[in-house]
Amino acid sequence: MQLDDAKIRAVGEIVRAHNAQKSQIIRILEDVQDVLGYIPPQAQQEIARQMGVDPDSIRDKVEFYSHFSSQPHGRYHIEVCLGTACKEKGADKLYKAFEDALGIHMGQRTPDGLFSLSMHRCKVKCHGAPVVVINGKRFEQVTPAQVETILRQCKQQAQQDPPAESEK
Ligand code: FES
Repeated sequence: MQLDDAKIRAVGEIVRAHNAQKSQIIRILEDVQDVLGYIPPQAQQEIARQMGVDPDSIRDKVEFYSHFSSQPHGRYHIEVCLGTACKEKGADKLYKAFEDALGIHMGQRTPDGLFSLSMHRCKVKCHGAPVVVINGKRFEQVTPAQVETILRQCKQQAQQDPPAESEK
């Protein structure tokens, strides 16, 4: 999928907001992923161009860090908070329950394109730990036992609301 001009400009603005500093590369990649949802090769090239570095070095970082993804999200993008408060309340087990139920790991998408799995940084909603965000909607105090129900509800919703042509 080609990025439009507005998205390419947004990538450039993020790099400039960090003064194109090499020491800020992880923050730059995190911000780009927050805005685009993933870091496609075209965005990687734009980051490299703006920073004056080899595009391969950007690609290597995206591939090395498991919380980055160069693939678009699934129809339901599941983000498990792995911040300190959420970890203290069992976020690691919760994350594993999503991995097991979906058969995918961080940054991956199910073969049917329905789900993708990721982690997110603390969104300062720690009182609700552990927190899961699905397509921007927050779920609090989620337990591993609730994972199957959550996924089933997403599947039911997907059946009732088939994807638009542009989403296929
Ligand atoms: S640590 Fe998870 S919301 Fe703060």
